[in-house]
Amino acid sequence: MRVVECRQFGPVDRLVVVEREPEPLGPRQVRIDVSACGVNFVDGLFVRGEYQIKPPLPFVPGMEVVGLVTGIGSEVESDEVAVGDRVLANVGLGGYASEAVATVEQIVVMPDTLSDGQAATFMQSYLTAWFALRERGAVSEGETLAVLGAGSGVGLAAVDLAAALGLQVVAVASTPEKRSLARRHGAVAEIDSSSLSPDEVKNEIRRFAGEHGSTPGGVDHLYDPVGGELGETCLRALGENGQYLVIGFVAGIPRLAANQVLLRNRRITGVDWGAWAGRHPAANRAMLQGVLDLIAAGAITPTEPVTYPLVDAARALSDLAARTVAGKVALVP
Ligand SMILES: NC(=O)c1ccc[n+]([C@@H]2O[C@H](COP(=O)([O-])OP(=O)(O)OC[C@H]3O[C@@H](n4cnc5c(N)ncnc54)[C@H](OP(=O)(O)O)[C@@H]3O)[C@@H](O)[C@H]2O)c1
Repeated sequence: MRVVECRQFGPVDRLVVVEREPEPLGPRQVRIDVSACGVNFVDGLFVRGEYQIKPPLPFVPGMEVVGLVTGIGSEVESDEVAVGDRVLANVGLGGYASEAVATVEQIVVMPDTLSDGQAATFMQSYLTAWFALRERGAVSEGETLAVLGAGSGVGLAAVDLAAALGLQVVAVASTPEKRSLARRHGAVAEIDSSSLSPDEVKNEIRRFAGEHGSTPGGVDHLYDPVGGELGETCLRALGENGQYLVIGFVAGIPRLAANQVLLRNRRITGVDWGAWAGRHPAANRAMLQGVLDLIAAGAITPTEPVTYPLVDAARALSDLAARTVAGKVALVP
């Protein structure tokens, strides 16, 4: 089998592609012939040693894969999964590979409604969006939502899910391609974050709220995977009782001014889907099923990713970090 290995923390171009002998299967494990592996921003953080968790070296990045089951462990029941099933696996690490090993608890048999690329790239993004909007944020139909980084993995999923839940969504993104992708996923308005200052973006979000919402002074919710100065400034685009959903910090950890939180009785809500999912596997599976049900009903549609050959994993991660990709990225062995 072929894997992409991280041997030392550092720039992504130090990743190496190597051949390895497959590991023997544990009793509750399955082997998957990988057809596509999702690439997430967080994979680059792992490789550079910038994530809060540092895996022992060497490790193979990649948390979500889709493929066909080619082998099953001795204690896997026949009604759980069979050789030949097409499954999605949340492997945590080990996905950048031509073969992956997962426990039965980490896999879901995939319906044909999604292509391999879509199936390999929706899970982290949509479960984060669902956890943020429904579990943590308790958003309601008719409310207004501004999504920063709306053409990103987690941002685009939030646009899609929020529109399906009946929210009025404004998409903030840096390129026409990203904004048009967000429009196609249900955003009713867009703001160009590349040509406007953070203060001007804030004013545009307020203008959107004035036209589409009922809450005085700004939007009901802000979904922020970007942070930095943009996040700090857009806190002030929230109206009365408005909620700031803290998703990520690609542009730096925002310093959120407490006086601005006090004003208008605003609220800040932390969202840590990964850690929560690890502590609540049954609830996370139920959430995944909820997302799959919405996909099957046609209410949400994960975007088709941009694909790269497995051997070009470093280029895929560099392009993601350089913000040149709209939507999602997948590696194909
Ligand atoms: N809280 C959670 O549970 C959770 C779960 C998953 C991911 N996350 C976090 O969410 C964030 C986004 O993840 P993702 O996979 O959606 O990322 P992604 O697809 O790579 O998108 C990141 C977006 O951020 C924007 N951006 C602004 N400044 C940037 C900068 N300096 N460098 C890179 N991008 C910048 C870009 O949009 P524009 O070009 O439009 O500005 C880009 O599209 C990450 O911080 C990740 O760790 C959090």
